[in-house]
Amino acid sequence: MHGMNSPTVHPAQRIVDLGFGFILSGALSSVAELGVADKLVQGPRSAASLAEELGVHAQALYRVLRLLASVEVFSEDAAGLFSLTPAAEYLRSDAPGSLRAAVRMLTQRIFWAPTGEMVDTVRTGQTPFDRIFGKPFFDYLHHDPAQGAVFHQGMSSLSDMENGAIAASYDFTGLSSVVDVGGGHGGFLIEVLKLAPQVRGVLFDHGQVLAGARIAQAGFSQRCALEEGDFFQAVPKGAEAYVLKRILHDWNDETCVRILRNCREAMAEGGRVLVLDTVIPPGNAPHGGKVLDVMMLASLPGRERTEEDFRKLFAQAGLKLSRILPTPSALSITEAVAA
Ligand SMILES: C[S@@+](CC[C@H](N)C(=O)[O-])C[C@H]1O[C@@H](n2cnc3c(N)ncnc32)[C@H](O)[C@@H]1O
Repeated sequence: MHGMNSPTVHPAQRIVDLGFGFILSGALSSVAELGVADKLVQGPRSAASLAEELGVHAQALYRVLRLLASVEVFSEDAAGLFSLTPAAEYLRSDAPGSLRAAVRMLTQRIFWAPTGEMVDTVRTGQTPFDRIFGKPFFDYLHHDPAQGAVFHQGMSSLSDMENGAIAASYDFTGLSSVVDVGGGHGGFLIEVLKLAPQVRGVLFDHGQVLAGARIAQAGFSQRCALEEGDFFQAVPKGAEAYVLKRILHDWNDETCVRILRNCREAMAEGGRVLVLDTVIPPGNAPHGGKVLDVMMLASLPGRERTEEDFRKLFAQAGLKLSRILPTPSALSITEAVAA
């Protein structure tokens, strides 16, 4: 039998490896949380010396690092010193494209705990999130600023991986105004503003999230306004394009129609809505959207959608699908115009 990464993995081993998968997520989560990678920037160190500085249990840390070193996150030498690998570099806080915040977010209890109850979700079709945390997903993040910060920083970090490539997959140069609805800290809008110098942007989200916006730091304050609000009530009026990036997948169909109608009502004549979510293709091939879809099933009322699903949503919101553009990421750009 061979490991998971081998193309000739035995079917029995595949099942066992899948069953063990959460151990790796837990190990990764712990080193991201503790900031272990930051402590290895100056060179290789023993688990004991790392543990002393971090104030953690030396043998426990050693065992976690030994496991991670077996999957190319850190590497242990013959003297028992651990060093960074190319993958571990992304766990540094200050590395370009750092994914430390993304790992903290992905392995946060808001995803982890409901996933542990998957069988009940499959029985009922309902996420146990509200029962476990006392409120729906975004209300909980809103009322717990510490958890909210981990989520929104993680979202920014994960989105930074894809934002440039997605923005470059659509021609924004002919547009004068773009609203990023639920745009988080503004990472995507910044890439649009860089590529399309005539665009004026509006970053629209909850006030608490906009407090972490990076628009000013990126030098775009003159061309981009921050507007606080609730996309269930209304979105800023009169723009040519409304971006919904990783938004519709958080919500059920009825709620999505409400958000889309608000965009339809607000948009300028000839305007468009750009849905940036995965579009699940038919067939068995692995696709990032399939994992994300089950994550949404576990913790949110949302889902990833097929092209047909999007057509139906648009039709109920006075819109029609005009085209779907692939991007180098797992997300596609699904464009809708007035029906
Ligand atoms: C999954 S995140 C996506 C963030 C960003 N578009 C990206 O791709 O990184 C969902 C965003 O929707 C925002 N959001 C949730 N409910 C909202 C509401 N009712 N009105 C405005 N924004 C909302 C959240 O604050 C969060 O920034």
